[in-house]
Amino acid sequence: MPAHLWKIATGAGAAALAAVTAYDLTQRRHSILRSYPVLGHMRYLLEEVRPELQQYFIERNWDGRPFDRDTRTVIYERTKGIHGEQAFGTERDVEEPGYEWLVQTIAPVPAPAAPPRVVVGGPDCRRPYSMSLLNVSAMSFGALSANAIRALNRGAAAGGFAHDTGEGGLSEHHRENGGDLIWELGTGYFGARTETGEFDPERFARRAADPQVKCVSLKLSQGAKPGIGGVLPAPKVTAEIARVRGVPVGEKCVSPPAHSAFSTPAGLIRFVARLRELSGGKPVGIKLCVGSRVEVLSLCKAMRAVGTAPDFIIVDGSEGGTGAAPLEFEDTVGMPLTEGLMLVDSALRGAGLREAVKVGAAGKVAVGSDIVKRLIQGADFTLSARAMMMAVGCIQAQKCHTDRCPAGVATQDPRRARSLDVADKSERVQRYQRSTVAEAVRLMASMGVSDPARLTPEMLRRNTGPHRSSSYGELYGRLAPGQLLTDPPADWAHDWARASAEGFPQP
Ligand SMILES: Cc1cc2nc3c(=O)[nH]c(=O)nc-3n(C[C@H](O)[C@H](O)[C@H](O)COP(=O)(O)O)c2cc1C
Repeated sequence: MPAHLWKIATGAGAAALAAVTAYDLTQRRHSILRSYPVLGHMRYLLEEVRPELQQYFIERNWDGRPFDRDTRTVIYERTKGIHGEQAFGTERDVEEPGYEWLVQTIAPVPAPAAPPRVVVGGPDCRRPYSMSLLNVSAMSFGALSANAIRALNRGAAAGGFAHDTGEGGLSEHHRENGGDLIWELGTGYFGARTETGEFDPERFARRAADPQVKCVSLKLSQGAKPGIGGVLPAPKVTAEIARVRGVPVGEKCVSPPAHSAFSTPAGLIRFVARLRELSGGKPVGIKLCVGSRVEVLSLCKAMRAVGTAPDFIIVDGSEGGTGAAPLEFEDTVGMPLTEGLMLVDSALRGAGLREAVKVGAAGKVAVGSDIVKRLIQGADFTLSARAMMMAVGCIQAQKCHTDRCPAGVATQDPRRARSLDVADKSERVQRYQRSTVAEAVRLMASMGVSDPARLTPEMLRRNTGPHRSSSYGELYGRLAPGQLLTDPPADWAHDWARASAEGFPQP
């Protein structure tokens, strides 16, 4: 080719590249293209020709990731408002042990026009909160970028659901869009602590008075790392994060493993009551990943002894996510959600406390059937962390702990965080939450239920072996109201006798 033609071709190529780069950097739909202009198209190209190529190049290790391809596809489609139907039937092995199914009826009912909600707030709460069936689970500003927090909260405001702040405190990014907040306090008491890290009642009362704060959640533990506190490495403690948390800039920020405000079950319940008073009567609950049954029963005894109860208990499963945790804690500590949830529900029933305490569930809640299963297992409402992250653009790169999140979701790097467009992603959050709850409501209607309170453990079955299945009622049983007080069944009696309001007995 003559030299002048080369020059023209090279110039045209460079101009085209510059145009694509400019377009990628300024468009608002795809965070990946804003972070990786030009190169990022490769991902979307592979998505077009999937499943084979995408699976090979991007998702080789998909089996090991929190959400499988099908779940991920459902989440993404819902964020985009696509209500995919599937041809040809299930690809799952419905005979396989562990396979679960919901029990439908010959007499389905019409789905209610508006999704049911649940009122959170026991007898001592003066400002009950009407909670959606699906909410944003705790994820701190610090673990997530400011733009991710803004998008989640704006989605929550538009969709009428709650957004849990996570233990990293209440920032202006949580408040900018006015979405309902559950303010979480962990062992670091961020945003409500003294110089030396103890709980500061005045600071707490000032912040809890914010009308956007609808509930307060006292975090005892988290499924991905029960028994240890969070650590935010020194370089991530920017001036802004230091201000929100009330800690020194540039110093490693550690949440201790245990609370300093109490040390016994009764002390914990008294602290909950104090937080409720300081907040002006708002619902105050606790969040935990269950360790042992005797500890849960000790909490129940403490509630009875003190004469008040948390307004809600959020049960997190050991399958839950985290921004950063030691692998062995993620893999080997804590009770899975099914077991923990059914235990907490049954214990509260048996101790005659279930009416006063609402139960939330977190742990891989991603699609409508997850919500229904958790409601059947004893939850009144659910919360989702990682599926909500995916709604704001997370691609499960699993780089949260490195500060190099390619989607701008779990990073404090301003260049990466700017790739997340708040307006676009907040709409996705809202669409995802709305259609997931709608699907849950539709599933319940097919089971003949319009009020979730009428779901029973007989409505979920599990393959327990070849050609054998049992209902959750048969597998786990459920205590009758007050049964522990009058006639504890043999398999509960020992733990109930050992449970104490004044200490946490060993399992
Ligand atoms: C990035 C990230 C940060 C989190 N931060 C907190 C936190 O600050 N406090 C907390 O109680 N749980 C935290 N969690 C746990 C979630 O709130 C939730 O309980 C758990 O991930 C289970 O939900 P999932 O399976 O939907 O992710 C975090 C989870 C993730 C993924």
